[in-house]
Amino acid sequence: MSGKALNIGDQFPNFTADTSEGRIDFYDWMQDSWAILFSHPADYTPVCTTELARVAALVPEFHRRGVKPIALSCDNVESHKGWIEDIKSFGKLSSFDYPIIADDKRELALKFNMLDKDEINAEGIPLTCRAVFVVDDKKKLRLSILYPATTGRNFDEILRVIDSLQLTQTKSVATPADWKQGGKCMVLPTVKTEDVPKLFPDGIETIELPSGKGYLRITPQP
Ligand code: BEZ
Repeated sequence: MSGKALNIGDQFPNFTADTSEGRIDFYDWMQDSWAILFSHPADYTPVCTTELARVAALVPEFHRRGVKPIALSCDNVESHKGWIEDIKSFGKLSSFDYPIIADDKRELALKFNMLDKDEINAEGIPLTCRAVFVVDDKKKLRLSILYPATTGRNFDEILRVIDSLQLTQTKSVATPADWKQGGKCMVLPTVKTEDVPKLFPDGIETIELPSGKGYLRITPQP
C-alpha cells in the first residue's frame, strides 16, 4: 500500500512526527518559510552521512533563501541523536541545525511514496529512497525528485533549482540548462512581442534558428 502520488502544484499534506528536535506539526514548524524535506534509507549508512553533513554545512544558504531543511530517516529519535554525532564528526561541524524526522514505522515513507522496492534491508523491508520535496510558503509542492538509495544527491543543484523557482515566480522568465544565479534567462514563450519593451526595458536578444520561429529569446537576469 502506498500513498497518493504528489504532483507539482499540489498542496503538500500536513503531518505530525517525532524528530531529533522534538515532536513537530509540519505546517507549524514551517511557519511562513519554504521547506526542503529530504528522505534517507537509514541511519548509520555511509552515503546518508555525507548528505546530512553537506546539508548541515549549507543551512545558512537554505536560510538565506527562506528555506528550512528537514530530513527523514526510518529509525527512531534515539538512533538519530547518536547518528548526528557521527555526522558532525564526519562533516567537522560544530552544530547540527535542522531536525531529522523519526519514521521508524515508515508511515510517512508510505504516505509520500518514498519507498525504493529495489533496496531491501536485512528484515526484507524496502528502504526509503532519496526523495526531495521543496514546499513553498503557501504549502504547495514546488519540486519533487527521487534518487535511488545508491546515489547521493547534489545539494548545490537543489539550491540552484530553488533560486530558479524563486526567480521565475515573480519574473516573466525561465532559466536555461545549467543556469546559475545571475546568468542569462529565457523570456517566457507566453510573453507577446508587443509586451517585451514594457517587461524587458533593457532589450532582449532573439536567436535566429532554422525554423525562423523566433522563440529563443534571451535576457539578462531580471
Ligand atoms: C548509504 O547511505 O550509503 C546507503 C543506504 C542504503 C543503500 C545503499 C547505500
